[in-house]
Amino acid sequence: MSNTKTNMVLFLLFLVTLLLTMATPSISDTNSFVFGGCSRLKFSPGSSYETSVNSILTSLVNTATFTNYNNFTVPGTAASETVYGLFQCRGDLNNDQCSTCVARAVSQLGTLCFSTYGGALQLEGCFVKYDNVTFIGVEDKTEVIKKCGPSIGLTSDAFTRRDAVLAYLQTSDGTSYKSFRSTYSGDFQAVAQCTGDLSSSECQDCVSDAIQRLKIECGSSTWGQVYLAKCYARYTEGGVHSRGGNDDDNHNDDEIEKTLAILIGLIAGVALIIIFLSFLNKVCEKQRGGK
Ligand SMILES: *[C@@H]1O[C@H](CO)[C@@H](O)[C@H](O)[C@H]1NC(C)=O
Ligand SMILES: *[C@@H]1O[C@H](CO)[C@@H](O)[C@H](O)[C@H]1NC(C)=O
Repeated sequence: MSNTKTNMVLFLLFLVTLLLTMATPSISDTNSFVFGGCSRLKFSPGSSYETSVNSILTSLVNTATFTNYNNFTVPGTAASETVYGLFQCRGDLNNDQCSTCVARAVSQLGTLCFSTYGGALQLEGCFVKYDNVTFIGVEDKTEVIKKCGPSIGLTSDAFTRRDAVLAYLQTSDGTSYKSFRSTYSGDFQAVAQCTGDLSSSECQDCVSDAIQRLKIECGSSTWGQVYLAKCYARYTEGGVHSRGGNDDDNHNDDEIEKTLAILIGLIAGVALIIIFLSFLNKVCEKQRGGK
C-alpha cells in the first residue's frame, strides 16, 4: 500500500513538472496588457452598428492567422455608421502567436469597450483598434502612454550604449524600410514598430518622434517605453529574455509573481491530494480491520 502511495506521489510530482513546463509559454510577455481606451459614445444593443463592429472584430481575428497586419472597413447605413478596424502584430511574432494575441486583444476590447463606438487596445504582442472615424492611413503622433523605469542614473558608458541602440533604431536605410525594428548593444535592447497603414516616411517620422520623447522623458532610466497612436519605441537594459527587448523590470516581476502563484497553487493541490490519499488509506485499513 505505501509503495503504491509513493508511486502516486512521484507520478503527481511528474505531472506538476509537466504542467509547469507547459504553463510557461502561456505567461509569455506577448499577452501582457499595455493600454486600452474607448470612445465615450455608446451604441444601442442590437443596432446595425453593433453587427458591423462584431463583423470587423471577427475579420481581424480570422486574418491574424495568416498575416501580421490588416485593415477592414464595413460600410454602415449612414456614412457616420461606417466602422474601420485594424490590427498590427509585433514584427517578430509567427502566425500562431499573432492570432492568439489578436484573439485575446479583441476579447479584452469587448469587455473594456462594451458597446462603445470606438476602442483601441495594445498588448505586448499586438494592437487592435476600431472606430467610426477614418483613422486608417492617417498618421497620428498623439502620445498614448509613456512609462519610464527607475532613474537610477546610467553610467556614462551605459548612457552611450542606450543612445546607440536608439540611434540605430531610428536609422532607415532606404532600401530595406521596416515597420518593425529591433536591435541590441551589449545589455541594451530596443524595439520600434509602426502600424502597417503608415507609409515608410510616416513611419520614420513617427518612430523618430517616439525616440525623441524616450530620450527626453525617460532621461537616464534603465528602461523606457513611449507609445504614440500609430507607433512605439522602447528600450530596456539587461532584459532576461533575448527576443527583441520587450521585457522590463515590471513585467519580469509580474512573471515571477505569476509563476510563484502557479507553483503555490500546485503545491497546495498536491498537498491536498496526499492528505486525501492518506485519509482513503486509513478508511481502507479501518474497513479491513473491521472485517
Ligand atoms: C461616429 O458616431 C457618432 C455617434 O453616432 C457620431 O456622433 C459621429 O459623428 C460619428 N463620427 C463620424 C466621423 O462619422
Ligand atoms: C487596407 O486593406 C486593403 C485590403 O486589404 C488594402 O488594399 C489597403 O492597402 C489597406 N490600406 C492600408 C492603408 O493599409
